[in-house]
Parts: sequence; structure tokens; C-alpha cells
Amino acid sequence: MVTGFLAEVEAMAGQERSDGGRLGLLVGDLVAYCKDHFLCEEEFMLFIGYPDFAAHSEWHRQCLEAVEECLDSLAGDPAATARRLTVYLRGWLTGHLAGADRQLGEYLSRQLGSEIKYGR
Ligand SMILES: [Fe+2]
Ligand SMILES: [Fe+2]
Repeated sequence: MVTGFLAEVEAMAGQERSDGGRLGLLVGDLVAYCKDHFLCEEEFMLFIGYPDFAAHSEWHRQCLEAVEECLDSLAGDPAATARRLTVYLRGWLTGHLAGADRQLGEYLSRQLGSEIKYGR
């Protein structure tokens, strides 16, 4: 989901004039997806007693805040918003998905005593 979204936003960021309406729909979908995904992940972390729950869920909260701020700035300059979102989401993919989410998978693997291929 996030990689597909990123590809479309990157394309918009490269245009001189971006379609603010389309970008607004995309960001709205992303916010809805993130809320669902984060809620599931956080409920799971609580269920397994994940020790890094507080920091991990705080990172989720900050992500939602950053993406929702983009909705507010859309009307002013959609192309600039698309560029800002592109930078933010690239950082999210490498920082959170490849970092914190992977660590969660590794923790679960250790708890289960077997390897889980996370994110593949
Ligand atoms: Fe996460
Ligand atoms: Fe996640």
C-alpha cells in the first residue's frame, strides 16, 4: 500500500502543477490505511506484551500527525505537498518499516523460538 502510494505521489511531485483533488483523495486513503494498520499493530503489540510498545506507538502517532498535516497544506501548493510527502514516506519506509516493524517481527520470532520472514 505505502509503496504504491509513494510511487503515485512521487509522480505528482515531479509535475509543475499537481492535481490537489487527486492528491487529497490519496492522502485521505493513506490516513485511513495508517489508522487501521497502526491499530492492528498496536493491539497485537499489547497482546504479546511487546516491551517497546510505547516508543513504537508514539512513532505511529507522529506519522499520522505528519500525514494529516499534509491534508491541511494541500490547498496552498499541491506539488510542494507531494514533494514533502515523498520525502517523509521514503524516510518512513526505511526508518519505521525496515527498523521498528522489523524489530517487532524479530522479537516475535525470538518469543516463538523460530524465524519469521517479516516484510517479504
Ligand atoms: Fe509500526
Ligand atoms: Fe507496520
